[in-house]
Amino acid sequence: MMLLEFNNLVRRFGGLSAIDNVSGHVAKGELVGLIGPNGAGKTTLFNLITGFVPLSSGSVHLNGRDITGRAPHVIARQGLSRTFQNLRIFPNMTVFDNTSVAATGVIGQGLFETLLGRRSRAKRISERTWQALEQVGLQHLADDLAANLSYGQRKYLEIARALAMAPELLILDEPAAGLNDTETAELAACIRRLHGEGLSIMLVEHDMNLVMSICERIIVLASGKKIADASPLQVRGNAAVLESYLGTDEP
Ligand SMILES: Nc1ncnc2c1ncn2[C@@H]1O[C@H](COP(=O)(O)OP(=O)(O)OP(=O)(O)O)[C@@H](O)[C@H]1O
Ligand SMILES: [Mg+2]
Repeated sequence: MMLLEFNNLVRRFGGLSAIDNVSGHVAKGELVGLIGPNGAGKTTLFNLITGFVPLSSGSVHLNGRDITGRAPHVIARQGLSRTFQNLRIFPNMTVFDNTSVAATGVIGQGLFETLLGRRSRAKRISERTWQALEQVGLQHLADDLAANLSYGQRKYLEIARALAMAPELLILDEPAAGLNDTETAELAACIRRLHGEGLSIMLVEHDMNLVMSICERIIVLASGKKIADASPLQVRGNAAVLESYLGTDEP
């Protein structure tokens, strides 16, 4: 069974088809890249899958369960969490609190946990928060205000917030944007490590070296349509993909 399956997704904004009949999947444990020129529809596709933007038509299944039209927090509780292209952290809160807020939204919402009591729920949230901070190497900055972090550290905090929701599938929208080469290489190592721990990941990224070096499969969008879905090597040599990038300064 596929972890994530999306079928015939369509999203229109006025007369524009931002996503035009796009289908695809992510298998358990897979690391899939999503690429395409600016405005191709990458963020919109993520927004549709995670429930942040309603579909015009189509369906989304997670672990065989229909999550079409569900609210983002419901989808997050089912195991799908994400980061945003624009950072969404709270600058006046500590690194720890930024992360535990995310965990609070998903942990202990069921009847079982309610019966378990508030103390044990708080403990689980705290454990989950520390684990997420360790996974991205931010535990030593737990008490710092998010506002005092460097830009690169804030990117890791975004990822920690998503990890705190204990996802099965992590969706990252341009995690390396604005990072220098060294920081990008460190981030690539972090994503590889998370993948090695068994996490399934779907990643939008403009840095082609990063995408080509870590992804097992790459989905390519152009003008809202899927034009390729293949291995990095096949995508690199795909004529339609190269053509879609002509006239832009990527890849
Ligand atoms: N809320 C919206 N209202 C109207 N049009 C939108 C909206 N969101 C996205 N679009 C349009 O849909 C198209 C796809 O946008 P999207 O942000 O998904 O592209 P992208 O591939 O993520 O681009 P980038 O690489 O620049 O992040 C663009 O033409 C964009 O202007
Ligand atoms: Mg985008």
